[in-house]
Amino acid sequence: LRVLSVTSEAVPFVKTGGLADVAGALPAAVAPHGIEVTTLLPGYPSVLAKLGRKRVVHVWESLLGEPARLLAGMLGDAPLVVLDAPGLFAREGSPYLDPAGRDWGDNWHRFAALSRAAADIASGAMVVRGKRRLYDVLHAHDWQAGMAPAYLHWGMPPEAPIVPSVVTIHNMAFQGWQGAEVFPRLGLPREAWSMDGVEYHGGVSMLKAGLVTASAITTVSPTYAQEIRTAEFGMGLEGLIVARGRDVSGILNGIDGQVWNPEVDPLLAKRFTARALGRRVANKRALEAEFGLEPGEGPRAGGPIFVVISRLTWQKGMDVLLEAVDHLVGLGGRLALLGSGEPEVEAGFHAAAARHPGRVAVRIGYDEALSHRMQGGGDAILIPSRFEPCGLTQLYGLAYGCVPVVARTGGLADTVIDANPAALAAGVATGVQHGAVSYASLSAGLSRTVALYNRPEEWLRLQRNAMACDFSWGASGKAYAELYRSLIQ
Ligand code: ADP
Ligand code: GLC
Repeated sequence: LRVLSVTSEAVPFVKTGGLADVAGALPAAVAPHGIEVTTLLPGYPSVLAKLGRKRVVHVWESLLGEPARLLAGMLGDAPLVVLDAPGLFAREGSPYLDPAGRDWGDNWHRFAALSRAAADIASGAMVVRGKRRLYDVLHAHDWQAGMAPAYLHWGMPPEAPIVPSVVTIHNMAFQGWQGAEVFPRLGLPREAWSMDGVEYHGGVSMLKAGLVTASAITTVSPTYAQEIRTAEFGMGLEGLIVARGRDVSGILNGIDGQVWNPEVDPLLAKRFTARALGRRVANKRALEAEFGLEPGEGPRAGGPIFVVISRLTWQKGMDVLLEAVDHLVGLGGRLALLGSGEPEVEAGFHAAAARHPGRVAVRIGYDEALSHRMQGGGDAILIPSRFEPCGLTQLYGLAYGCVPVVARTGGLADTVIDANPAALAAGVATGVQHGAVSYASLSAGLSRTVALYNRPEEWLRLQRNAMACDFSWGASGKAYAELYRSLIQ
């Protein structure tokens, strides 16, 4: 069975967030189930540079008005195709933002073209060894690929094969909304412009286009699949999600156990296992030195180090964490933060670091290697998200014994077992959950965490339970494989 996975980012080619980890891991996750996933990526400069030798496998004279060609490569052991359309993608820097940090004005054109190409490819545009290459399922990720099922539905000649499709919502907050003036340029028939089509609040929603036309919809955790049925999380599309009924399901993301495993991680000062957690202290000391945090003596001196590895945005509750920094320090905790995002939030954390030298330290930027060292040396990872479709950093935290302290929402609720008295008594707790993020609930969660940390046996138990969790791709790869198969029957 052949699947075409359409995504705007995938590790190791281009990454701005968790979508890249997931899209990059999907092919290997479903391969054991007899499914070959070909990934389609835009030809950003960084992608073309990593592709190496350029083998052209298809050419469009005009793809929504732009000359484009398709280049073949490999993503791990799986096939990769890259859409080389310099007019759309030959831009350095972020895949979505111009140098001033604003969305590129023609993002609708860039990603509609990616989606148009995807529909063509899935329907047999590519010729391999003299034969049209057909795909059994098209799998579109987020709004950037949302138009692909819409093109399959409205934009194919009558003789084209029928290709079922899946849309995965990694984040309902980003919907790819464009003014009505772009509709005539999308190359869709008039009938697509309706309330049951791509029209949304007088414009075009590229995510909605996918949600109305896909054969099935998934999101990245069971709880988020329920949450998006409500106005609080549905971001205006909750009615549509409810209407799609049983076509909507939640499949939890997995993590790559080759990359995220403290036993073999070459990026750590010292590797460790759940049984040899004493070795972890070397990583904590290294982290203190790296961030300039006040060092302690003995394994527990200096208090717990809370780490944050995150986009610094409203979604992630970072404004509330800023309010709670003084409380965290007052409890005897320390904070090491790595991230970038909203300028006010960045400035706020710089100010907090200046207020608490040696207790709060901040790195603004993106640093994959440092993120490993933080998971390996921090005591707890803070994720106070307002909403979180799945979240990956809590899963990495679990694997590294960096105890997750999370808001009870979305995938965070599904993957962390709160250390309440019952769970502690049963010996199953893996972290701390707090209620919907506010100063009061986050502060209470921090207080509870520090109290647990100060009971070394309890804490060790928590770390060991966390490290025993299995959030590898096994179960989720099987779930995607079953979904694909169900669509072709
Ligand atoms: P989201 O996709 O909403 O940002 P996830 O938790 O799903 O959240 O995924 C975020 C991914 O990006 C994780 O792999 C995390 O480690 C990584 N990440 C986020 N910020 C940084 C950063 N500043 N430096 C390095 N890695 C980061
Ligand atoms: C989105 C979500 C995040 C999820 C990731 C991968 O970026 O915000 O919760 O883990 O996609 O699915």
